[in-house]
Amino acid sequence: MVNVAIVGAGGMGRRHAASYRETGEARVAAVVDINRDAAASLAGEDAQVFASLEEALEKCDVDIVDVCTPTPFHAEHAVAALKAGKHLLLEKPMARTLEDCDAIIGAAEESGKTAMVAHVLRFFPEFVRGKEAVDAGLVGEPAVVRTSRGGGMPRGVDSWYTDIAQSGGVVLDLIIHDFDWLRWVLGPADRVYARGLAHSGRKGQDYALVTIRFRSGAIAHVEGTWMRPSGFETRFEIAGTQGLLDFSSRDSASLRVARASGEERRAAVDVPESPLAENPYTSQIRHFLHCVRTGEAPIVSLRDARAAVEIALGALESMKTGEPVELRFQES
Ligand SMILES: NC(=O)c1ccc[n+]([C@@H]2O[C@H](COP(=O)([O-])OP(=O)(O)OC[C@H]3O[C@@H](n4cnc5c(N)ncnc54)[C@H](O)[C@@H]3O)[C@@H](O)[C@H]2O)c1
Repeated sequence: MVNVAIVGAGGMGRRHAASYRETGEARVAAVVDINRDAAASLAGEDAQVFASLEEALEKCDVDIVDVCTPTPFHAEHAVAALKAGKHLLLEKPMARTLEDCDAIIGAAEESGKTAMVAHVLRFFPEFVRGKEAVDAGLVGEPAVVRTSRGGGMPRGVDSWYTDIAQSGGVVLDLIIHDFDWLRWVLGPADRVYARGLAHSGRKGQDYALVTIRFRSGAIAHVEGTWMRPSGFETRFEIAGTQGLLDFSSRDSASLRVARASGEERRAAVDVPESPLAENPYTSQIRHFLHCVRTGEAPIVSLRDARAAVEIALGALESMKTGEPVELRFQES
């Protein structure tokens, strides 16, 4: 049983804690939050409560630090954990700036510990099967990809989410999931162009359309919104030389393939009976614990996570200037 310190006892801290419990392989031994009540409520009877990571690292013997603080604190907490010789699981986005990403990569390389950014789409069955279908050549060469993700405005207009300077808005906070997945499926990206409301100054009202050109020649069009009052929804569509693969979280049979011949087969891609038999966040933590135990490299490298941040920051810059932005650090 490994011991974990969770930093940030908000929505994600609670989700991660539940997932560690569900694996049966790890124990949450410490909870850190500047809000003592939040930390105490997550810690319950089993874990110690701390107001700072520094104090937790001094007083509590943990193997893993799991960082679920708001994005601007990611680098500070991740670097402190790695410098103290702990394994690191870090919520996405890796950090608010590329300089912060580099500080984390530097600290991880020095420590030699397992470090992974929680790009959880890599554990959502439909997104995994979507990649496998493309790899198996089911739609031929991918040419055009569309993704969409979003729902309502994050709770509380004064939450850190609605401050673009902290969260990076839908582009850095939300559709970074798709940027990572698209790189996983299509390979390195070389250019990004975006339009959106990130710089409009209207708190929480955020919508973005991001076009990414990949080195393979494929183009992706990524939509992200916090302005969809009808509820949270994700979709993707991959058009290739041999057919079309599409997914919508609204459908019950959510993964379908329409071959170029016009033939449509439900679930032609192997979809488990109950795709959500295990919560993807728990599958993600199971994978991370496996890597900690075996020393294997996590499925998401720190350079993958940095590359996704580079796409997001490029998109934010493109929205400001109206010009496309060349991406320079896309190799994993
Ligand atoms: N993977 C996903 O699907 C997903 C979903 C939601 C959020 N996230 C990410 O998880 C992270 C946390 O998001 P959340 O929704 O849990 O946020 P939240 O606002 O619900 O919780 C953040 C917690 O961190 C605490 N905190 C703030 N500053 C701190 C500090 N300096 N030291 C210690 N504690 C501090 C706050 O008191 C709060 O309890 C963000 O980076 C977010 O982007 C990921």
